[in-house]
Amino acid sequence: MAARQLVKLEMGVQFPSPTHMKEIIMPNWVRDPRTPNSLVWQVLRPGIPMPEWAQKVEYADWLWNKLISQNEGSDIKISTFQPKYIAQVADLYDRAFVGFPWFEPPLGQEEVIKYIKKEFSKTFAIALLALDGDLPVGFAWGYQLTPLEFANSKYEKSDSKSKNLIVQTLPALNYFYISEVGIDPNYQGRGLGTVLTTQLANILSPILLRTIEDSPMRKIAENQLGMIAIIAPWLVIKDPENEKRVIYTKLP
Ligand SMILES: CC(C)(COP(=O)(O)OP(=O)(O)OC[C@H]1O[C@@H](n2cnc3c(N)ncnc32)[C@H](O)[C@@H]1OP(=O)(O)O)[C@@H](O)C(=O)NCCC(=O)NCCS
Repeated sequence: MAARQLVKLEMGVQFPSPTHMKEIIMPNWVRDPRTPNSLVWQVLRPGIPMPEWAQKVEYADWLWNKLISQNEGSDIKISTFQPKYIAQVADLYDRAFVGFPWFEPPLGQEEVIKYIKKEFSKTFAIALLALDGDLPVGFAWGYQLTPLEFANSKYEKSDSKSKNLIVQTLPALNYFYISEVGIDPNYQGRGLGTVLTTQLANILSPILLRTIEDSPMRKIAENQLGMIAIIAPWLVIKDPENEKRVIYTKLP
């Protein structure tokens, strides 16, 4: 129980400004009355009620088990993104995607920073970090988009036929797209990806997520979030750019 009291879980929302990266943390703190010293929730912003999941003691317990039991003795917490971490997050991004299952060549800090800034300029961009002390060891971010915006931004280099396939396959909704999740390879398999993704996915709905067949992210999407694959190697409709990709949605 002692370890549990070390956990301070902070939720907030980042509203992109024209200059990017400006963070506003709303001052509206709520404590879970059933575990007053253990979890501290921050309401996202006025007008958005505290999500039901955050009020459930079972959820708090599940989260605790996932995060703390697997990281006993460490000082890991989940927090909103802060601009001072951008260079470290950029390095972390390259480290997360250079290995299994993506094997992407590293882009370099400067390119990743540009990409992150572009991502954070999207509608309702929200980014969370897992911090070990003051060191970012995981990130997850997302934003709102339509199927057309998804096709245009994530299939930028594809032909119009491929983009049309994406637009026609996705139900025409305004999604919260979980764009990137990455965990430091030294911290993978300890529940951090699950915690970051479920935190993010519980903020807005419906959700949209794209991953690859071999990624542990599929377990999170299917088992924790209850998402359904609509484009996948095993389905009739396959990703027009890369047949190994899986696109999941969870409708309201
Ligand atoms: C995918 C990723 C974000 C998952 O985060 P993580 O903290 O390592 O994952 P978790 O510890 O929360 O585990 C999630 C599930 O995957 C399983 N898992 C984790 N690593 C695994 C691995 N290497 N092989 C098989 N299963 C694995 C866990 O057992 C868990 O399943 P369970 O809930 O049924 O026990 C992380 O591994 C990562 O950054 N990978 C590289 C980048 C990437 O693929 N990002 C996702 C892009 S969509």
